Amino acid sequence: MSSSAKKMRYPVETTGLWGEAVRQRKPIVTNNYSAANPSRKGYPKGHVHIERHMNIPVFEKGKIVAVAGVGNKDDEYNESDVRQLCLHMDGMWATIRRWKDAEEQKLLRNYLSNIVNSMPSQLIAIDINDNITQWNTEAQINTGVTQEEALGQPLNKVLPDLEPIMQYVRSAINNETIQMVPKKRRIVADEERYEDIIIYPLTANSVNGAVIRIDDVTERVRLEKIMMQSEKMMSLGGIAAGMAHEINTPLACVIGFCHNMRKRIFADLPKNKKIAEECGVSLEQVRNYLRRRDVLSMLNTILEMGNRINTIVSNILGFSRINSGEFKEYDLAKLLDDMISLAANNYNSQENYDFRNIEIVREYEQLLPPVLCNGNELQQVFLNLLNNGAQAMAEKIYNTDHPRFICRLKKDEDMAIIEIEDNGTGMNKKTQKRIFEPFFTTKSADKGTGLGLSVSNFIVKDHHKGQMYVESEPDKWTRFTIKLPLVSRPQL
Ligand SMILES: Nc1ncnc2c1ncn2[C@@H]1O[C@H](COP(=O)(O)OP(=O)(O)O)[C@@H](O)[C@H]1O
Ligand SMILES: [Mg+2]
Repeated sequence: MSSSAKKMRYPVETTGLWGEAVRQRKPIVTNNYSAANPSRKGYPKGHVHIERHMNIPVFEKGKIVAVAGVGNKDDEYNESDVRQLCLHMDGMWATIRRWKDAEEQKLLRNYLSNIVNSMPSQLIAIDINDNITQWNTEAQINTGVTQEEALGQPLNKVLPDLEPIMQYVRSAINNETIQMVPKKRRIVADEERYEDIIIYPLTANSVNGAVIRIDDVTERVRLEKIMMQSEKMMSLGGIAAGMAHEINTPLACVIGFCHNMRKRIFADLPKNKKIAEECGVSLEQVRNYLRRRDVLSMLNTILEMGNRINTIVSNILGFSRINSGEFKEYDLAKLLDDMISLAANNYNSQENYDFRNIEIVREYEQLLPPVLCNGNELQQVFLNLLNNGAQAMAEKIYNTDHPRFICRLKKDEDMAIIEIEDNGTGMNKKTQKRIFEPFFTTKSADKGTGLGLSVSNFIVKDHHKGQMYVESEPDKWTRFTIKLPLVSRPQL
C-alpha cells in the first residue's frame, strides 16, 4: 500500500485493475501483468515495475469499504494467497472500524455534553446508588461545585440541600414516573430563592438512575407574589376598607369617651369637685381609689389601643376611595409643612421619641407649580413617611451627628418630586425589596402594622399615577422619593 499527501481520486469506471476488484466485487489476480489485459491502464512513469498483482475488495455489511492490493510475489498468486490477504484485511478493517467507532463515540459524547451544558437548567444525573454521573455547567455555576468535584460523589454529600427531595428521586426510579417538586425554597447567601425541580427516571439499557432538572424560578415567584399583592390591595380596597369605614364611628366614640372619663376624674374642673362632694366623697379619694385599682392605667391602655386601631383603620381606608376627598390643585410645600407640624405634635405625646430633637432641613425649590392631587391622601403618605423616619432615627444611637430629616421639593420635566430623607437606621436590600408589601414590618406588634408604606405606595401609584421608591444605606440614611405627574389629570 502507498500513501500520499496528495489527494487522489480514482473513479471506479476509469480505474484499471484496482477498479476491477470493485467492479466485479471479488479478488482479482493478475499473474502476468505485462500480458495484454483490457482492464490494464498501466502505471505512471517512475512507478516500480509490476510483474504480478493481486487485489481484493474489503466488505462490511455487503458494502465495499476498501481495496487492498499486493504485487510482485516471486511465484504466482493462488487461492491460498487470496484467502490469507482477505483474512488479514478483515482483521485490519475491524481494527480501523474500532478506531472509527471510538472516534465517533467521542464526537457524539462531546456533542451531547455540549447540548447538556448549553441548557439553561441545572442538569444532574445520578445512578441507582445516588452517585453523580452528569453535572452540567449550569449546575456548576449555581452550586459553585465543579464537575470534577461532583462526578462520582453521592448527591446528598455534594448538595445536602436536596436531601428532602431524595424521596421523590426514589419514587421516580422505582415507579418509573416523572416527579415534580415545584417552587422549592432555598436560602442562598441570605436570600430566598425558589426552584422548580423535575426528576426524570432513567432506565436505559437496564441501568437505573435519574436525571434531576433544577430551574431557578425566583423571578417568576416574585412576579406571582406582586400579582397576589395587588389582588390583596384590591380586596383590601373593597371589603376591608368598607369595614374600616364602619369601625370608624364606634371607635371615635370609644376614644372620645375615654378622654372624657379621664377628664372627669383627673382634670381639675370645678364640676368634678362639686359632684364628688354631692356624693359625699372627696375628688382625691375617688382618684386614689381608681389609681389603686389600676383603673387609670386601664383607661390609658384603652386609649392607646384605640389610637392604634385608629392608625390601622385610617391606613386601610387609604386603600379605598371612600373618604378620600377630592382632587384639587395643592401647594406641595404647604401640604408637607402642615404634616410636619402635625407629626411634631403627635410625637410629643409619645414617650419613645421626641420630634423636637429632630432637625428639619427644607430644600424646597422655588416656583413649584401647584399639583393636582388628593390632599388628604397625600398627607397620609407624608405622615407615614415621617412616622417611619422618626422611628428609624429613634432606634439609632448618634455619637457625633444628630437626627435629621431632609425634605426636598423639586420638579423635573413633567413630574413634581418629593423626597423625604432621614439619617436613621436605614435598611438592607432584602428589607428594601419588601417594604411595600402589605403587612410587612420589622417592628414589634405594638410599634408597626406593616400597612403604612403599602398604602402610601397604593395612593401614589394607583390613585395618583405617580411613582414611589426607596433608596437606603444601612446605618446611614433612607430616602423615599415620590413623583407625581404635573400635567395631565390622573385617571379616576
Ligand atoms: N425610614 C425608614 N428607615 C428604616 N426602615 C424603614 C423606614 N421606613 C420603613 N422602613 C421599614 O419598612 C417596614 C415597613 O414600613 P411600614 O409599611 O410603614 O410598616 P411599619 O412602619 O408599620 O412597620 C418597616 O417595618 C421598616 O422595617
Ligand atoms: Mg410605618
